[in-house]
Amino acid sequence: MQINGDRLNEDLRQLGKIGYRPGKGVTRLALSEDDLLGRRWLQEKMREAGLKVTIDHAANVIGRLPAGRSAAGSVVIGSHLDTVPEGGAYDGALGVLAGLEVARACQENDIDLPWDLQIINFTDEEGHHYAGTFGSRAMMQGVPEEELEHTRAEGGASLREDLRAAGADPDRISKARRDPGEVRAYFELHVEQGKLMERDRIDIGAVTGIAGIYRYLVDVKGEANHAGTTSMTDREDALIPAARVVQLLPEWAQARADDMVATVGQFFVEPGAVNIIPGRCSFSVELRSIDSSDMVRVRERLRSWLEENASADMRTVFEKDGNYLDEEIRDLIIDSAMNEDLTVEPMSSGAGHDAQSFATSSVPTGMIFIPSRGGFSHCPQEYSEPEWVAAGGQVLFKTVCELARRDWSRDAGVS
Ligand code: HGY
Ligand code: MN
Ligand code: MN
Repeated sequence: MQINGDRLNEDLRQLGKIGYRPGKGVTRLALSEDDLLGRRWLQEKMREAGLKVTIDHAANVIGRLPAGRSAAGSVVIGSHLDTVPEGGAYDGALGVLAGLEVARACQENDIDLPWDLQIINFTDEEGHHYAGTFGSRAMMQGVPEEELEHTRAEGGASLREDLRAAGADPDRISKARRDPGEVRAYFELHVEQGKLMERDRIDIGAVTGIAGIYRYLVDVKGEANHAGTTSMTDREDALIPAARVVQLLPEWAQARADDMVATVGQFFVEPGAVNIIPGRCSFSVELRSIDSSDMVRVRERLRSWLEENASADMRTVFEKDGNYLDEEIRDLIIDSAMNEDLTVEPMSSGAGHDAQSFATSSVPTGMIFIPSRGGFSHCPQEYSEPEWVAAGGQVLFKTVCELARRDWSRDAGVS
């Protein structure tokens, strides 16, 4: 039994045109015009594939293949069509379109599923409005009302307004919430977004865990003054302590753990004129590690360094802990890959994913990686070879089929 790898790659190619600009990759910011175009394209494809399409009040797009017989819960295959600015055609899109291909292959091979199969495009995974993985969190944990007031990164409409424009009713967002107990398993196929798999010629990654993300905004205050007439001993230059933090953070992270990372992605100097001493420096700090104690230690180190060396405040944007994924599901993925004569390795994810929203709610969760050429992602160079895409889709399909077979035998009392 095979998926149609050419059809999956053609879907990726077609979707990749939506939001594409020559030399600037793909930009489908969450709930923007291009994202809405991508959503409409997906709904059409889902209907053509015989799925029942609904949109919930977090604007998640859900394509449902009902179980043949009495359905007991559902298996969800998901990811996201929204991208970062000038991103790639694979991050997120691969997971949704591979799910669609699995739904087609189940029908074409008359696979009788003991549960509904649901293919979901989750809203705003990339955090264009706020904390990211919005749609999957709304579905699994619920989201606080105040999150809907956050505006898009460039100071645009609020998430509430954007949800309404996408046809959802944000005032009823709580209706998007599901009982995690009715989700038998969650799967996500994703590009690795790193160099390891291509370098080591690994076809399939069976993800063992997903890093947590702790994000802060630091605001360092100084005293703007004349750059020519203020002596070096008479200055309160906000940039000096801020620049020192940018140097110290990588040292602190590397001292904690090999897989811990720390990034200052945004940095603003005010008033920002060449002949004025910076009176204010604000910047983002993002810590990632699968072990939350690493992030807590670096957070506290940063907080005390700022207290001792600067006039600054540090605001928590959010703190999402890391997740270890279900071992039984991971072993299912490894067996499926080996049965396809593919090389497969267990590996962790430094990127965040919608899968975390399911793992956090104790849904048996599995992630499958395929290689990224050159390790590039979140940029126009993001690319995965068609045979990598087809292999990933095939392993996802065979894993779902094997889970169905096991669940049927369990239901029939056969071990
Ligand atoms: O930031 C991330 O890790 C993900 O791509 N949203
Ligand atoms: Mn991403
Ligand atoms: Mn992603």
